[in-house]
Amino acid sequence: MSEKNIAIAIDGPAAAGKSTVAKKVAERLGFIYIDTGAMYRAVTLACIKKGLDPKDEAQAASLLPSLSIEFDEEGKTLLWGEDVSCYIRQPIVSGNVSYIAAMKPIRLALVEMQRKMADSKSVVMDGRDIGTYVLPNAEVKIFQIASVETRAVRRYEENLEKGIHTSLQEVEEDVRKRDYIDSHREFAPLKPASDSVLIDTSFLSIEESVEAVLKVVKDKTGVVPLC
Ligand code: CDP
Repeated sequence: MSEKNIAIAIDGPAAAGKSTVAKKVAERLGFIYIDTGAMYRAVTLACIKKGLDPKDEAQAASLLPSLSIEFDEEGKTLLWGEDVSCYIRQPIVSGNVSYIAAMKPIRLALVEMQRKMADSKSVVMDGRDIGTYVLPNAEVKIFQIASVETRAVRRYEENLEKGIHTSLQEVEEDVRKRDYIDSHREFAPLKPASDSVLIDTSFLSIEESVEAVLKVVKDKTGVVPLC
């Protein structure tokens, strides 16, 4: 196909349902889905596995020369070739990932990987800084939000389904803590791009959220779903 590649950036706070929506939007459009949060989570897991302190930048950055993070065809996250998709959702990783994500050397390395992944393909990429920093020329930029209470309940239910045992209160504290660190860090903080479209999913189902994104894609690019 000689058609121009299109990038869709979906940013927003923790547990706003970005990855669920982004994955479905990518499927409907036949685009590649890239979960950048999974990459920060994989670095956090790597630190913990190697006995390094995820709050210590020098220790965490020592991983970079040997770091290998990939996504397989099913979208599973591979760390040094091993499927870690399940481990990276554990509370120990969620509770430390925002420290790792605030480190400039880590961000620079992951952003380089993310730009390579998006090179010469049409992608849906979700995260915190995609529209503002990783893909500033993305044709479509969405800022997806929901109230903190809604997000906590959604993540709590998702955890239960995955067999991850956490209380609703713990989940809400984690979401609030990550929102704070993600929005206050110095380098590439969480904020809406000036040309992003805000979608509040507090009262939208997954399908309604997907349709809302697809409408913006159609309006901005003329691209419509394959199915
Ligand atoms: O799924 P959830 O919203 O809980 O988070 P995630 O997308 O898996 O991202 C995990 C963490 O990685 C976030 O809380 C951020 O600290 C960080 N992150 C980031 O800083 N920049 C990105 N582009 C993606 C994630």
